[in-house]
Amino acid sequence: MDFSIDGKKVKAKKGEKILWAALDAGIEIPHLCAIREAENAWGACRLCFVEIEGRGVVTSCTEPVGEGMMVHTDTERVQRLRKRAMELILADHPMECKTCPKRGDCELLKWMKFLKVKVPKNLRPFPKERLEPDESHPLFVLDPNKCILCGKCIWVCKEKIRADVLDFAYRGYNMRISTFLGKPIAQSPCIGCGECVKVCPVGALYFKDKEEIKEV
Ligand code: SF4
Ligand code: SF4
Ligand code: FES
Repeated sequence: MDFSIDGKKVKAKKGEKILWAALDAGIEIPHLCAIREAENAWGACRLCFVEIEGRGVVTSCTEPVGEGMMVHTDTERVQRLRKRAMELILADHPMECKTCPKRGDCELLKWMKFLKVKVPKNLRPFPKERLEPDESHPLFVLDPNKCILCGKCIWVCKEKIRADVLDFAYRGYNMRISTFLGKPIAQSPCIGCGECVKVCPVGALYFKDKEEIKEV
């Protein structure tokens, strides 16, 4: 398929999503929830908006490329929607970056800087209940307070590893990642592969051997 992104001619195979075609062509699009191997993207983070001429704004992780398509990644509408989506993610995220196990490698921080978005204090509806991190597993910790609900850990555990240990629990503002019946991970059928930790874009899942991070 031949099409263009920001005026640059791009080629991609039929069915490829715009996000991956853009990244392959060296064009940056913020993204936090998409996994390339996943057959169907779930479009949770809403950061990857692009505008298609004659069509309007779409999430690029869910939209396949089309012959002759003209895609724009930097229009006023795209910028506004991406920034709003980032603000909503940040609104209930504890910005404890100095002590975070993901410090130096945090995808949330990377895209926050890319979009030039600041933490929107006025969007916080009320202080969120602080949840106890699950430290039961010998290899890794799940800190639900840092979770941005991207769903990547669920996908790898369910679809790639077929262990089916993790899922979303509760609804709305209380939604979180959980094992079946909310049991500690050590009491779940977890096989300790660590794939969920590797895909987590923030410090919500981290290996214990990186735990000793001191404040700078
Ligand atoms: S480490 Fe456990 S919870 Fe994580 S993907 Fe593997 S089996 Fe699932
Ligand atoms: S724990 Fe990490 S990978 Fe899993 S949903 Fe939360 S942010 Fe995403
Ligand atoms: S990467 Fe497209 S919605 Fe998250």
